[in-house]
Amino acid sequence: MAKKKSTKNWLHRHSSDRYVKLSQSGDYRSRAFHKLHEINEKYKILKSSKNILDLGSAPGSWSEYISRNFDNKNLVAIDLIEMKSIRNVYFINGDINKKADREKIINKMNRADLVLSDIAPNITGIEDVDQANFEEILESVLDICFDLLKINGVLVMKFFIGSSYDSSREKLKKSFDKVVVYKPESSRSSSNEIFFVCNGYKD
Ligand SMILES: C[S@@+](CC[C@H](N)C(=O)[O-])C[C@H]1O[C@@H](n2cnc3c(N)ncnc32)[C@H](O)[C@@H]1O
Repeated sequence: MAKKKSTKNWLHRHSSDRYVKLSQSGDYRSRAFHKLHEINEKYKILKSSKNILDLGSAPGSWSEYISRNFDNKNLVAIDLIEMKSIRNVYFINGDINKKADREKIINKMNRADLVLSDIAPNITGIEDVDQANFEEILESVLDICFDLLKINGVLVMKFFIGSSYDSSREKLKKSFDKVVVYKPESSRSSSNEIFFVCNGYKD
């Protein structure tokens, strides 16, 4: 009974959330596109970026958002799970923590202006495990930046605030001129999710 009630509460919160309603009316694949829209409204990351990499792209609303709203972009996307095709997006079914899959990205795009990562590793609820997973993702994302992000390029990366947040931010600051932390309105306030917006890649 208690379980039924909490499921009902979740459903109510979910359906009354204005961002869920918008994504349903806009027929995007998920509400996640609002986050990219907000990040772009504030930091104008998309207009001047031609070669864009979308890490952890499925179900595909970030790629869809770019494909629908911007012309002449060269977009490569990768995810562990399959993603239904999107116009002008080259999709790789792979794991960014695996070198062989990172090489597949480089074969398709060897210079990027912008790297996006909306990757969320499976959240276990065990703080140390979850933070370690995010650190592993951060290392892989930085390897990818090293391989293909242009000098002065931009990285936008999702992170969950926890014990490794400060050290991860410091690590990013060594590779980028400017690292700011942004929480879009469309990101639930109850969630620890934030985005690092990193400008001026130094290599
Ligand atoms: C929040 S979803 C991304 C939503 C996406 N931005 C959108 O707009 O539809 C996070 C994705 O990260 C992917 N992911 C998690 N770990 C990954 C890894 N090591 N390599 C590639 N993708 C990964 C998951 O499979 C999941 O689809």
